Amino acid sequence: MNNSALASVILAAGKGTRMCSDLPKVLHPLAGRPLVSYPLQLARQLGSSRRVLVIGHGAEQLRQKCSAEGLDFVVQHEQLGTGHALQCARSVLADFQGDLLLLCGDVPLLRRESLELLLTQHRQQQAAISVLTALLDNPTGYGRILRQQDHVCRIVEEKDALADEKTIREINTGVFVFRAPLIFDLLDQLDNRNAQGEFYLTDCVALAHQRGLGVASALLVDARECLGVNDRVQLAEVGRWLRERINKEHQYAGVSLEDPATTYIDADVRIGRDSLLQAGVHLRGTTSIGQRCLIETGAVLQDCQLGDDCHIKAGSALEEACLGERVIVGPMAHLRPGTVLAGHNKIGNFVETKKAQIGLRSQASHLSYIGDAELGCDINIGCGTITCNYDGVNKHKTVIEDGVFVGSDTQFIAPVTIGRNSLVGAGSTITRDVPADALALSRTEQKIIPGWRKRKRP
Ligand code: UD1
Ligand code: MG
Repeated sequence: MNNSALASVILAAGKGTRMCSDLPKVLHPLAGRPLVSYPLQLARQLGSSRRVLVIGHGAEQLRQKCSAEGLDFVVQHEQLGTGHALQCARSVLADFQGDLLLLCGDVPLLRRESLELLLTQHRQQQAAISVLTALLDNPTGYGRILRQQDHVCRIVEEKDALADEKTIREINTGVFVFRAPLIFDLLDQLDNRNAQGEFYLTDCVALAHQRGLGVASALLVDARECLGVNDRVQLAEVGRWLRERINKEHQYAGVSLEDPATTYIDADVRIGRDSLLQAGVHLRGTTSIGQRCLIETGAVLQDCQLGDDCHIKAGSALEEACLGERVIVGPMAHLRPGTVLAGHNKIGNFVETKKAQIGLRSQASHLSYIGDAELGCDINIGCGTITCNYDGVNKHKTVIEDGVFVGSDTQFIAPVTIGRNSLVGAGSTITRDVPADALALSRTEQKIIPGWRKRKRP
């Protein structure tokens, strides 16, 4: 694909009025990533040597969110139309000669293969302009493709179209490849004498045609790829298609989904083969799941790493947790950021962990809070154990060494360290360090008063 230089311009200056939002439209999340990240990723995958993002509304927020992407930003201060938007990119592409790919920041479903087809057509036909088109049952709102003897000669916008032009079903997806720097000469000749008073990028097609320059086109096989997001209904609609695509990719790669329609997997999630996701599972962010894992219904995992053969039971919530192999969690457990389970652990129902490093084979099976804690291997945490990590001002750490047995209903008043192989009696409140191999007990001795009931409450 690299037989000619490629640069990409992504238009994202528009206001997104119909989102009714304080957040710029292209920063709204879709499958765990901002909308604009999809065209940006495509541009990178296609081998663009330069990527230029045209920003306007919410420019500062966009700069911040996309700072890691290594892009050129160009500000279009007034949104005078798509043609004007591309003109704004001229300054940073002044020395660029080659193919210029134009994408919109709010069209996230395009596939790499479709753009490769467009680029191939463009290069084979040595076109000045190539446009990606689609056939829609309801083309309302889109620019229509006008042809003369099969050749694209003009694009007419919905608002400028005559009645018979409105019946045309072939539409402009808004994706183009232009020959640069030629395109900038054409842009200079645009005017805004049209229904919207805008400088239409689409008018370059007629200009090129009039000059006898080649205009090529490629037709999208699946018209859904060009769906744009203008409002939140479309955002959800696009989300549904994207989810279906993501789910199928995992299924074809060896992951079983009990009910794909209710399974939500973000774009950057990875899942090992022979894993099974039950209905209603949410895997979010950068979550990665090992092989042969079972994730039960209603589990929600955000930015987690799971080793092979893990079993997350129903209704558990995990955030930024890292699990080794063969870990069993839940049902209804809550693993919060900084939870690291070495492997072969069991974290049972109604157990909450936070900033907790837990060694191999250690377990907390019921109703516990383990926060700001460092636990060794082979530890048993009895039911109802709590690390009291907060004194109202600061957080303190609980350290429990290998092989410790903690009886039920124990409180550790941190900071405190429990030595290797020691035992803590049930119901203890542990305020001081416990040496290795000791028994620590802090409860008062049991009293028996014979015959009390009959005397006091006959
Ligand atoms: C545009 C096309 C139309 C096509 C449709 C596909 C034109 C004139 N029309 O129409 O033929 O069918 O896309 O979705 O190009 N933008 C800027 N600066 C501006 C104006 C727009 O950056 O001054 C950006 C927007 O943020 C958006 C993109 O360009 O990402 C498209 O703009 P939009 O106003 O949505 O174009 P449409 O009217 O949908
Ligand atoms: Mg518009």
